[in-house]
Order: sequence, then C-alpha cells, then structure tokens
Amino acid sequence: MRVDVVTIFPGFFDVLEVSLLGRARERGLLEVHVHDLREFTSDRHRTVDDTPYGGGAGMVMKPEPWGLALDALAAQAPTPPTIVFPSPAGELFSQATAQEWSEREHLIIGCGRYEGIDERVFAYAATLGEVRLVSLGDYVLNGGEVAAMAMIEAVGRLVPGVVGNPASLVEESHSDGLLEYPSYTKPASWRGLDVPDVLLSGHHGRVAEWRHEQQLERTRTRRPDLLP
Ligand code: ADE
Repeated sequence: MRVDVVTIFPGFFDVLEVSLLGRARERGLLEVHVHDLREFTSDRHRTVDDTPYGGGAGMVMKPEPWGLALDALAAQAPTPPTIVFPSPAGELFSQATAQEWSEREHLIIGCGRYEGIDERVFAYAATLGEVRLVSLGDYVLNGGEVAAMAMIEAVGRLVPGVVGNPASLVEESHSDGLLEYPSYTKPASWRGLDVPDVLLSGHHGRVAEWRHEQQLERTRTRRPDLLP
C-alpha cells in the first residue's frame, strides 16, 4: 500500500520511522511519502492561506497549492486514489473504515490547518478519486496531522504482513463490534490480586464463554452505544 501525506508540517510524520510501522516500511509492505504543501506554492512567501470570503475569524487554506499537489500525486497513481481529508466536520473514523482502507492500493491524506480548506478543493479532488472527509471524534484538533497519524497507524497495522500474528487482530477491541476482554499474565497472584480461576482451569470452552461475557459486560458499562 502507498500513502501520500500532504501537510505544512512534514516533520510531524518523522515518528513513522520508528516502531511497527517503521519496520513495515523497511519491508516494503507500506510506503509512506510525506509532501510539504508549500512546495506547491509559487510566491516568494510560499503562502498557503488567505482571509475567508464573507468574513469571519481565522484563515482558509487557498485552493491553488492543493490543486497542484493533488494533480502531482494522483497522476503517479495507477488507479484512482482514495483522497482523505481529516476534518472535525467529517464522518466518524472507525475500525470498519480502517479495514476498508487497508485493502486500497493508494491513499492520499490532505492535512488542513487553520479554519479549514477552500471547499472547492474537495470538489476538485472528487474528479481524481474517491474523497472522504473523516473525523477522529467529536473534539477539535489544531489540524489534520495528529488525526492522519492515527489513521495511518490504524490502517497500516491491518495491511497483511504488518502485524506478525494475524490472530491478534481478530480478538481485539472493535473487530467484532465489542470491546476486548481483559487479559492477564503471570504471576497468578500479585499484590493480593488474583487472576480469575477460569483462566487457570485449562478448559477452553469455559474460557471462551467467560471472555465473551466480559466483552458484553464491558461494552454495556463503558460503551452502551456500540450495542444494538
Ligand atoms: N482536524 C481537526 N479536528 C479533527 C478531528 N477531530 N478529526 C479529524 N481531523 C481533525
């Protein structure tokens, strides 16, 4: 999978070099390219924003640099890319979104700053690929960079081969619509706190049943909105 990120803060993405995704990049499973939006400006000040038509607070990102950046990146693509703009005004990002995108060949992620991006950029992008405005949650970040990182990690780890043991992807929170069951390791007793007996029983059927009950109970108390 190839991911192109467009941002005015390319340095933000340096941390992708480390950890699991860094290794996935080294092994050629995940190619991430980060582009500076200012490289697509033509004025001396490398301007990427301007005042909003109609007035109001803050600045809006200008369409021209975005148009040139999208042209350059979409032109390299063998198939139409999925073009993602992190935005608090977008649809909610979920495990299902991550799963869907992990099967795509090419994602372009456009990180907006300030009060947003000129709306015409989304209409233009739709002529180059599928456009998705996606929010991490109901809160406002300063820009799309942190959201883009979260999305790259959530999607990247689902690309086949990135996570060593694929079984661990099956049993985690949200993969079956429920929160994950609690996990324990040795010692069986620690500071007066004991591992539940059923987990020491060696009885696989009872363990599976207990874990499912725990998933339901946790989801009921912590995230009732996930239950039908
Ligand atoms: N940009 C600013 N806030 C955001 C959010 N909640 N999700 C995605 N992108 C954002």
